[in-house]
Amino acid sequence: IRPLRIGMIGAGTVGGGVYEIIMNRLGGSSNKSLAASAGNANNTPVITKICVRDASKSRDFHIDTSATEVVTDVKSIINDSEIDIVVEVMGGTGIAKDAVMESLRQGKSVVTANKALIAENLQEIVSLVDKVNANNVGAKTVKFAYEASVCGGIPIIHTLQSCYKGDIINEVMGICNGTTNYMLGKMEQGVDYDEVLSEAQALGYAEADPTADVEGHDVRAKIAILAKLAFGTTVEVNTIPCMGITNISVVDFEYAKSMGCTIKLVGSAVRQSEFGEHDGALSVYVSPKLVPNGHLLASASGCGNAVAIDSANLGIASFTGPGAGRYPTANSIVADVMRVANNTCIAKPFPLSSNIEIDNDYVSAFY
Ligand code: NDP
Ligand code: HSE
Repeated sequence: IRPLRIGMIGAGTVGGGVYEIIMNRLGGSSNKSLAASAGNANNTPVITKICVRDASKSRDFHIDTSATEVVTDVKSIINDSEIDIVVEVMGGTGIAKDAVMESLRQGKSVVTANKALIAENLQEIVSLVDKVNANNVGAKTVKFAYEASVCGGIPIIHTLQSCYKGDIINEVMGICNGTTNYMLGKMEQGVDYDEVLSEAQALGYAEADPTADVEGHDVRAKIAILAKLAFGTTVEVNTIPCMGITNISVVDFEYAKSMGCTIKLVGSAVRQSEFGEHDGALSVYVSPKLVPNGHLLASASGCGNAVAIDSANLGIASFTGPGAGRYPTANSIVADVMRVANNTCIAKPFPLSSNIEIDNDYVSAFY
């Protein structure tokens, strides 16, 4: 047995956390000589390569260069036959997509935090994983794991993949963006929009281009992923009605307060109901909403996220926790790596498939 070798694409906010957890907290770095000689007797992961844009850039975490090679060409990781798992924490849908797809084709498992990539290419990813594994009969199957892609540190993907097998979900809704939740909380206290956006960026919550956060596109990608998991339906991400927080101002909070409410950016995927029966088409949207102060969603503060799932057997269950930031997100990535390493990762990344009709006219009634 040799240590599990990881090639990590990207080493910024999230990648730095993944590196520190695996190499320092879990002892990956002390496996370095064993990693080189392939003689380890345990399965502790080691990050043997990191791909970044600028190898000379100073970083806010220490890279042990005796264990880890720093490269600037993703092919150096994808084509490295010694690498077992590719962790993609670079972001974007260009180079990242090619790297993820090619890694899967080459039989490497992939762990990613990239919700934009998944939501835009959901069906293609599902088909590729199925195809690679169908051609791999008897050999080790590839896994595609993406717990960090929705709600950062909250294990919502795993919960939907595993815990609702005998249930029927009627609605998934919640706060799925840490940046805007942080911003709205501060704006409610009177802090200026541009100032709070800069703070959220400095804290490592925001996307490289924060337009995705404030315009709601990040939540749109996340609700598309949650809808696929909850209902089996692939929702075209660009068709989801979406409104962000760019038009929210101090006066809106004053009105909200006068009604005993606050304002939250909410993503929702719900099966329409008649007479209490949730048997209709699926409506999916992203929008700022007035939320009563006592409501579960109102309690999410800072970069916190909260998701409520309404299902036939369980009723309403809620999941809250840190939705962005270095270590919460890195924790989800590392948990995925461990599940892949221990072969306990679910084989089909999106276990459900169905053709529930999508009704955008119903949603547009909200606007
Ligand atoms: P950062 O911008 O902090 O890091 C991106 C990393 O990718 C950097 O190390 C950068 O290199 C590298 N990179 C960018 N372009 C290239 C390229 N062309 N070739 C090689 N390397 C490249 O992003 P985050 O860590 O914040 O986010 C990464 C992913 O995780 C995104 O998909 C994001 O949506 C997702 N995510 C982020 C969360 C967060 O809280 N930040 C939470 C959940 C998911 P260099 O350092 O040299 O510039
Ligand atoms: N920019 C995202 C957010 C990162 O603020 O929620 C976590 O997905």
